[in-house]
Amino acid sequence: MDSVGWGIVGYGWVARDYMEPGIRAAGHRLVAVCDPDPASRAAAEGVGARGHADLAGLLAEPEVEAVYVATPNHLHRVAVEALAAAGKAILCEKPMAATLGDAQAIAHAVESKTIFYGTAFDQRHHPAHRAIRAQVEAGRLGTVTAVRIVYACWLGRDWSEAGQPNWRIDAAQAGGGALMDLAPHGLDLVDFLLDEPITAIAALTQTRAQDYAVDDGALLIGRTAGGALASLHVAYNCPDALPRRRLEVVGTRGLLVAENTMGQTAGGSLTFIDGASGRAEPLAFDAESSPFTEQVRAFGSALRRPEERAAWSAARDLQTMRLVARAYGHG
Ligand SMILES: NC(=O)c1ccc[n+]([C@@H]2O[C@H](COP(=O)([O-])OP(=O)(O)OC[C@H]3O[C@@H](n4cnc5c(N)ncnc54)[C@H](O)[C@@H]3O)[C@@H](O)[C@H]2O)c1
Repeated sequence: MDSVGWGIVGYGWVARDYMEPGIRAAGHRLVAVCDPDPASRAAAEGVGARGHADLAGLLAEPEVEAVYVATPNHLHRVAVEALAAAGKAILCEKPMAATLGDAQAIAHAVESKTIFYGTAFDQRHHPAHRAIRAQVEAGRLGTVTAVRIVYACWLGRDWSEAGQPNWRIDAAQAGGGALMDLAPHGLDLVDFLLDEPITAIAALTQTRAQDYAVDDGALLIGRTAGGALASLHVAYNCPDALPRRRLEVVGTRGLLVAENTMGQTAGGSLTFIDGASGRAEPLAFDAESSPFTEQVRAFGSALRRPEERAAWSAARDLQTMRLVARAYGHG
């Protein structure tokens, strides 16, 4: 009963490299995909799923209970609206949409039909991040004063991980650049770790090192409802060999440092530094399970047990999109 039958709309990089292995590792089944690209459908068929060129074919699959949407950002809305109309549970990739208007339409579509919907903020499910949340909740850090995040990569004009066109450098398809792509993870993660949302935000963007028009870097500062500060440095212009994935949670009694945990893969490290002695203590977490596997498990569990669905919220994710819009100076 616990093995969920999944469909995927958009079988490109993230779906192939992270979601399909996550579905398998969680003991669920990938039943079918929908993708207009024959090579993407062939990749899905190679792992035992049925390929459909259009959404109607996927919707006609009775075994598909939950659908993961992983198309380029500007196509999230049309897929979610159709899936909601068909009554499917939906896990939609971040950012919720390419525009705030589309995100509002998504929230409306799933709320008006009472669809189980989640935005795929996989980093909520990284075992190290769950451990940080537990430490914060237990008061180990004292009063949390700040969260500092660096989440960066190198994304050149020709970047492509699954042979797809680089839609990320086209504002019409992506909705923005590095800020739109990478900052939603950090904004959502602060909410998850501290159990309170960011309510105030400001940002500066740059178009500095890459030869395309969307922002290739941004610094964001925010403040949560309770007064903790957040800083995020996100970038497409940081060489991948440099340290570029770091999360720190600072409190009056100590500091938690997570390195190489932000991202799609398992592992990384987590260290507690005591505020009185300065002593560093490595903290253990499940370093084998990826955030995608854990996300599939959590979504599948909530699909079966509606009382767990409060952890997923289209309204909260829409608020994150509002923060992104404000960070860009819109709205
Ligand atoms: N959570 C994460 O860590 C993470 C990581 C990577 C990407 N993402 C998100 O996942 C989404 C996909 O990113 P990607 O890098 O895998 O992109 P990609 O370009 O590699 O794959 C997109 C796929 O969508 C398909 N597609 C295009 N139009 C379609 C349509 N109308 N219907 C169905 N399929 C269609 C393409 O053929 C392609 O196979 C984006 O929203 C991105 O922001 C999230």
